[in-house]
Amino acid sequence: MEVIVLPDAGRIGEVAADAIGVLLDRKPDAVLGLATGSSPLAIYDELAARHRAGEMSFALARGFTLDEYVGLPADHPERYRNVIDAVVVAKVDFAPGAVRSPDGLADDIPAACAAYEDAIAEAGGVDLQILGIGTDGHIAFNEPGSSLASRTRIKTLTRQTRLDNARFFGDDVDAVPTHCLTQGLATIMAARHVVLVANGRSKAEAVHQLVEGPVSAMWPATILQHHPHVTVLLDDAAARRLQLVDYYRETYRSKPAWQGI
Ligand code: GLP
Repeated sequence: MEVIVLPDAGRIGEVAADAIGVLLDRKPDAVLGLATGSSPLAIYDELAARHRAGEMSFALARGFTLDEYVGLPADHPERYRNVIDAVVVAKVDFAPGAVRSPDGLADDIPAACAAYEDAIAEAGGVDLQILGIGTDGHIAFNEPGSSLASRTRIKTLTRQTRLDNARFFGDDVDAVPTHCLTQGLATIMAARHVVLVANGRSKAEAVHQLVEGPVSAMWPATILQHHPHVTVLLDDAAARRLQLVDYYRETYRSKPAWQGI
């Protein structure tokens, strides 16, 4: 796991966009894993800017989102499908239908989850997965207690996650759905490169557990310690509880430029 502490969200966006650019140069039809939440927004803004500048094309790329609320109407602005369309898909040149999401309105939820796993596999798996992290250490919507071997399935959101996300629902926690569909931890672990981004002091404990804590279903993101290629991009506030932060900073400073992330 590589831990990189950067001065601000803008720089985090640039470093992640560099990695996506290298991937798309090598593999124009790469499969990207797209996360919702505020943390990846700087990455999406940078991708959009590079696309506008003619430096990056997603015309052959494919995408899969991580998760979706169950039961939000198709036109609800906080439906993750609509959020991801607004923050990134509509700002670049993905082909129609190239980005897929779990169907939170499916009548047959288990079948929809199985179909989503099949679609990811048929696309050849995810090349680069963008991830945020919840304050309770969840990734996608894999809440504490999630099976470390889980696949796409329905989950119940914790009170903490619904409180965290109430800001998107007029600060009304009761308006936040109780259930979601989410890629499982094993689904995420199958991505070839995971780029996790965290900003702000509210994420500091989850980041400390992710990087330096014991692997445990109580902090689901810790499963990433078993992944061979994870890059963690942090601002100073999110890094403030890391015991080895000086080592991570020194390692990145002295990293050969040819290595990339
Ligand atoms: C939600 C999403 C996660 C995201 C998390 C943190 O729970 N399902 O994918 O990582 O929020 O969001 P934010 O980046 O806004 O703090």
